[in-house]
Amino acid sequence: MLATVDRALRSMLAPARASRPVPGPAASPLTEAERREAAALMRVNHAGEMAAQGLYHGQALLTRTPQLRSQLEDAAREETDHLAWCETRLRELADRPSLLTPVWYVGSFTIGAIAGLAGDRIGLGFVSETERQVEAHLNSHLTRLPSGDQRSRAILTQMRDDEIEHGAKARASGGIELPAPIRAVMRATARVMTSTASRI
Ligand SMILES: [Fe+2]
Ligand SMILES: [Fe+2]
Repeated sequence: MLATVDRALRSMLAPARASRPVPGPAASPLTEAERREAAALMRVNHAGEMAAQGLYHGQALLTRTPQLRSQLEDAAREETDHLAWCETRLRELADRPSLLTPVWYVGSFTIGAIAGLAGDRIGLGFVSETERQVEAHLNSHLTRLPSGDQRSRAILTQMRDDEIEHGAKARASGGIELPAPIRAVMRATARVMTSTASRI
């Protein structure tokens, strides 16, 4: 329990440490309008990656199968890279993360814990659906990024590719397709987070 609290505090308060270098070319100059547009998108992505930390940590805590737990921990480590990359990019864009960062973590941790209690196949189904929605979200951000921002584009592209792999692994491990109403609730929850994080 202490280890969980320690990890939660570290995720929310300490700078994330990436195990892979930030993808893409060095940042090139942007106009003020482009900078602001890119920063708003990257703030949303930072919030999403903070939520991913919470989801994976919560689910790993309450999953009963050791093998599934280690699969979740592996994915969580890649999500830490994503978080660190978004943090770095936000700094480069002279912006800050969402002020509601702890809310995204704790809320997602709770949802992840419920998924962990629901059993392996549903839990993996939850991972699969989450990653599918994140993939769609990242694809839409890739079309919205200012065209000159190759650095953010490279980061989001690598993130998207990792999320595709996380989802595929969850399905290969036996994740089931969640019922449509649950998928809709997940989409609505994500929408609240993304629209709030772009402003606060
Ligand atoms: Fe991610
Ligand atoms: Fe992921």
